[in-house]
Amino acid sequence: MTNSESQKRLAERRGLESDVYQPAEDSGLLAEAAIESLSEPRVVLEVGTGSGWVAQQVGEHTDARVIGSDLNPHATHQARDRGVEAVRADLLDPFADGVFDAVVFNPPYLPTDPENEWGDWMEHALSGGEDGRRLIVPFVETVGRVLAPGGEVYLLVSSLTGYDTVVEVAENAGFVVDDIAQESYPYEVLSILRLRAVI
Ligand SMILES: C[S@@+](CC[C@H](N)C(=O)[O-])C[C@H]1O[C@@H](n2cnc3c(N)ncnc32)[C@H](O)[C@@H]1O
Repeated sequence: MTNSESQKRLAERRGLESDVYQPAEDSGLLAEAAIESLSEPRVVLEVGTGSGWVAQQVGEHTDARVIGSDLNPHATHQARDRGVEAVRADLLDPFADGVFDAVVFNPPYLPTDPENEWGDWMEHALSGGEDGRRLIVPFVETVGRVLAPGGEVYLLVSSLTGYDTVVEVAENAGFVVDDIAQESYPYEVLSILRLRAVI
């Protein structure tokens, strides 16, 4: 299947008609892996919270205070309607240093030809630029700044997005990387990477 075919299939399944990405199999895999692996987190940030469903799940199944953030104002409203504390933010920009015990992110990751970008909020939710890593790389390279000592990152990665490259970027940023969950689909394999700073 070509990238544009898989992009179309995923977009159809994930609510292209909406302004806000709705929970799908990737959201479920991330929430489940984070809930199972997190050990006594106090404050958790979900970057790119979308509908707020992942943040809500983590909040309900752990003792953590969970904050959701998103670039899309429709998403922060929807997350708040769900009861999630949500703020509008571009990646990690407004957050102070060293404040989160864990950061969770299901990024936009579909490789997208610049000529096929469609210019709406769902594009922000789905498109990872030409190589799928437009947001993943800056996220991985800067997330260490907002982590408290011993903090962890839970990052969803697709086989469409250059799995080995993402692992390499994370290791170069000073993290130990563990692949803690996988799910296979006809068009991609989804993995959850847990990143922990090298002490
Ligand atoms: C794949 S969706 C995931 C939504 C939700 N977390 C879930 O798993 O169901 C990616 C989310 O990242 C958000 N996003 C895109 N660019 C962003 C940025 N620069 N800063 C923060 N969030 C961003 C999108 O608006 C979208 O809600």
